[in-house]
Amino acid sequence: MKSTTVMFEEDPILICLVVALLLASILIRNYSSRSDVQEDGTSPVPSSPKAQVSASKRNPGQWIPIDFKAPDPPPYPDWDVKLTKPLPYRPFKHGPTYFVNMGLRKGNFDDWIELDNEYLKFHAIKKERIETRGDKLCKTAPEALDAAIELLEILCDYLPTRYPSMFTRTSVGIDNTVTNERFNIVQRPLAEEPMKTIGRLIQDDIAIMVEGSDGQSYLKSGSIILPGFWKLEEKFDMNLSEIHTSGNVPQFREKLEKGMVNFFKRVMPDDMVIRHNYFMQVDDGLAWSHSIGPEDASNVGWFTAERDKVVENHWFRTERQTLRRLPRSGGVVFTIRTYFHPVVDVAKEPYVPGRLASAIRSWGDDVAKYKGSEKYKTVLLKFLDQENQRQIDSGLISEGGQSHLKYPY
Ligand SMILES: *[C@@H]1O[C@H](CO)[C@@H](O)[C@H](O)[C@H]1NC(C)=O
Repeated sequence: MKSTTVMFEEDPILICLVVALLLASILIRNYSSRSDVQEDGTSPVPSSPKAQVSASKRNPGQWIPIDFKAPDPPPYPDWDVKLTKPLPYRPFKHGPTYFVNMGLRKGNFDDWIELDNEYLKFHAIKKERIETRGDKLCKTAPEALDAAIELLEILCDYLPTRYPSMFTRTSVGIDNTVTNERFNIVQRPLAEEPMKTIGRLIQDDIAIMVEGSDGQSYLKSGSIILPGFWKLEEKFDMNLSEIHTSGNVPQFREKLEKGMVNFFKRVMPDDMVIRHNYFMQVDDGLAWSHSIGPEDASNVGWFTAERDKVVENHWFRTERQTLRRLPRSGGVVFTIRTYFHPVVDVAKEPYVPGRLASAIRSWGDDVAKYKGSEKYKTVLLKFLDQENQRQIDSGLISEGGQSHLKYPY
């Protein structure tokens, strides 16, 4: 170590050379990794070279506003609040091995927020919950207020362009011409907590992470109205690691923590990434999975759930999550869009019961515990195996022919 320092002090040309080589290796790593495809078929974490340089330059907790605006999206093709079906994300993979990873793919800004013909159902549930318990579900710390307002502004630009049959841009904000709501986002004080307004506008839940002066990302703002299994109140103000370890996310420390922490430091406003996850529920609670205990109880979990309920009570929950950084405030926005369907419906789709059964059998003990499989797997696997056999017998699918249907569909 000492000899290196001496060498650097004595030879400025060598220093320049070493710096140039380091930069080159960073650039090469990034460009080459962008074209890779990981084992699970997802693309790796995008992290632009300038993001890395900038992340190493800026001080922890400091953000210098960047002049970036995503291009206006084209209107969603033929979008109709009554007719456009939820996209059929089925992000479970055939076994035999289940890999724990972040599974990030590069996203497209045009597709940032997805709305479909369950909008009015989601909207009604959100409205009722904002009225009855909104202050627990939607909350912003003072240091994240600018980020929350920036997000609201971006939505007021994006939604009318993407979904013109439902939203209209106004001089003060946005109108929803289907629900007859008008939102003024320029008046002060705002009519309501901005994360409540955001909750009313979209089907997604939202979390905003803000970097503290210690360089850690903290959950400082959220609109978490349909979370199923977790509560904003309990995670608010936590750092990334604590959010995940307190939720007992399997293999977080070993497989996820380092990459995730780095990703949050480096993600830049012109990057967007997407990931998917999935869970089973043994109840039909979109907002709250009540079979794990009442929403207001302090100690809830799969341990309270009833075992072996009939398959008609089993529901498939999958989340499409996106991450991007807000250019002005530097907050990192995490969108969580839930798709929620009865298992008996999803299992009618070709190859789905066979692949889901195989995925469930591939869970290690830690993942199985996290996903609560003890409570439902006997009933669910029996049902999925039967449905898979039915699909083979009827000629709908051919045995072993599932490999052409690629994750995440
Ligand atoms: C995150 O927060 C927890 C709990 O306060 C703390 O123990 C931990 O050191 C923090 N993590 C980092 C990386 O700072």
